[in-house]
Amino acid sequence: MAQRRLLARSKIAPQKRGLITLMAHSILVLHGPNLNLMGQREPQWYGDSSLSALELRLNERAATHGCQLRSVQSNAEHELVDEVQQAPAAGVDFLLLNPAAFTHTSIALRDALLATALPFIEVHLSNVHARDDFRQHSYFSDIASGIITGLGALGYELALDAAVQQLSAGNEH
Ligand code: DQA
Repeated sequence: MAQRRLLARSKIAPQKRGLITLMAHSILVLHGPNLNLMGQREPQWYGDSSLSALELRLNERAATHGCQLRSVQSNAEHELVDEVQQAPAAGVDFLLLNPAAFTHTSIALRDALLATALPFIEVHLSNVHARDDFRQHSYFSDIASGIITGLGALGYELALDAAVQQLSAGNEH
């Protein structure tokens, strides 16, 4: 967890005022393969906005929550596995994960999440349940804190709000 120091104001008596150390929540957003093509790729499913526009909005929202956010997109399964493995040591408290096509294939990514035991929300831009049969199974849904599917880029923002709420409540699982 990253540390930030805030000067206590408000109702604390002046003589008792000091620097109070608070812990900022740290959230990692992982985007799987082909999500770098957002905005160009099958807009009927994935919308018109780009990944960088999505990340900009998400960063702004994270700032309003006072939490740290890092986003990574990779087309390579092993890079996503590495990110998950390194997340606890990097101080990450919570993951927002759109595994993209790896949703339906990746036991390796599932095992990495189980190994770290970090809480995560599974996010999909499209409603995977309204699509092909092979998209009906996810290797992540049964171990996720929650799932948001079919709400486009807004889904990430709602997932971020939910993650912050869960972390603040100390109720990560
Ligand atoms: C996706 C849905 C997956 O089935 C697909 O392979 C993707 C994106 C989504 O965000 O809707 O690449 O995860």
